[in-house]
Amino acid sequence: MRIDILTLFPKIAMAPLGESIMKRAQEAGLVEVCAHDLRKWATGKHRKTDDYLCGGGQGMLLKPEPIFAAIEELRRESSKIILLTPQGSVFKQAKARELSSEEHLIFISGHYEGVDHRVIEQLVDLELSIGDYVLTNGAIAAAVVTDAIVRLLPGALGDARSAVDESFFDPNLLEAPAYTKPIEFRGLKVPEILLSGHHAKIEEWKAEVSIERTQANRPDLLDQ
Ligand code: ADE
Repeated sequence: MRIDILTLFPKIAMAPLGESIMKRAQEAGLVEVCAHDLRKWATGKHRKTDDYLCGGGQGMLLKPEPIFAAIEELRRESSKIILLTPQGSVFKQAKARELSSEEHLIFISGHYEGVDHRVIEQLVDLELSIGDYVLTNGAIAAAVVTDAIVRLLPGALGDARSAVDESFFDPNLLEAPAYTKPIEFRGLKVPEILLSGHHAKIEEWKAEVSIERTQANRPDLLDQ
């Protein structure tokens, strides 16, 4: 898989991808990730990438020309072009799984008030938001989406854990609380059931507390 990230801040996009599992996935050749400075495709003396809004309004928009030029250079037959924007559909695990089987992703990271709409109309296959809040910079969102996709590539997580657990992952239920040693810490004990060795009962307990936790933290998931 290859992922190209177009941004005014390549260092922001790459910083979280240069450590730990993301670093190893790239070193192992599972994925090639490259963040490009959009200014490389800007022309004119000042290499301007943004401009005022037509019709008035606050802020600046990314201009279409550098984005068109970059995409035309980077795009291949198999490329999927994704814009990171708070106006996109919300990125979920199912979409991460779907995108993990693509050959080539190109992320366009918005900045300022977003991008000229002709970019969306002509180039973009999918608009994604990482949640209902506004970041200063789509490069952060591109790194988040990249991480979620790359960890799903076979071999990325390395151990047996991953793939098995995730095939049972229920997107409408939060995980049960988890404990490790010590069994007692500052008078706080690990629930007895988890020490019982009774697997069926443990699973039953986990299902129960999962629902309670979902009810408390994410009641919206139970409505689905
Ligand atoms: N750019 C700014 N905020 C964003 C968000 N929530 N998701 C994706 N891109 C963004």
